[in-house]
Amino acid sequence: KGPAESIRFPDRTSHIGKLINDYLLSTKETENTSDQTIHLLFSANRWEAAKDIETKLNNGVTLVCDRYAYSGVAFSSAKNVPGMDLDWCRTCDRGLPSPDCIIYLDMPVENAAQRGDFGNERYEKIDFQKQVREKFMALKKGDEDASLVPWHTIDAQQSIENISEQINNIVDNVMEAVKEKPIRKLFTD
Ligand code: TMP
Ligand code: MG
Repeated sequence: KGPAESIRFPDRTSHIGKLINDYLLSTKETENTSDQTIHLLFSANRWEAAKDIETKLNNGVTLVCDRYAYSGVAFSSAKNVPGMDLDWCRTCDRGLPSPDCIIYLDMPVENAAQRGDFGNERYEKIDFQKQVREKFMALKKGDEDASLVPWHTIDAQQSIENISEQINNIVDNVMEAVKEKPIRKLFTD
């Protein structure tokens, strides 16, 4: 099937990524960072990787990405800041290499909150996470209505084995469907 690599956003290792990390940890230096500013930094963190992503895809590497622009839109729009509607939030990511599919690992927010270190970072609050989930559902519906990026929702409360089997099936189909297709640009049609 060819080589595959995993990547993730935010990429906290870059200079911009370090600023994002500080923001998520609510450091003193970031206490006055506006919602618009951090939204644009998350986007810039993707743009600084865009060339690399395209090169890899053009060389036949399959990329599996843990969060991307849709997280940017869902989290920022869930803040309900006047002016930061879905459209505003999408604009700065327009033209990035588009994903070929989105796999949304879904579970009740209350259950997610029992996992790992939930609560340590800025957005890890149950009420806010519920709003974010609503935004993801709205984005998914919008993409379905417009036949844009195909979404797959997986029940993330299943065993790791079941989840990975389902993801494998989805990915096999998507890889077959897109193997000769050019890279699409996000949010352009
Ligand atoms: P992580 O937990 O996957 O490292 O993501 C860090 C947090 O940043 C998580 O709460 C989701 C949020 N986020 C945004 O607000 N905007 C973005 O563009 C991305 C990629 C993540
Ligand atoms: Mg996290």
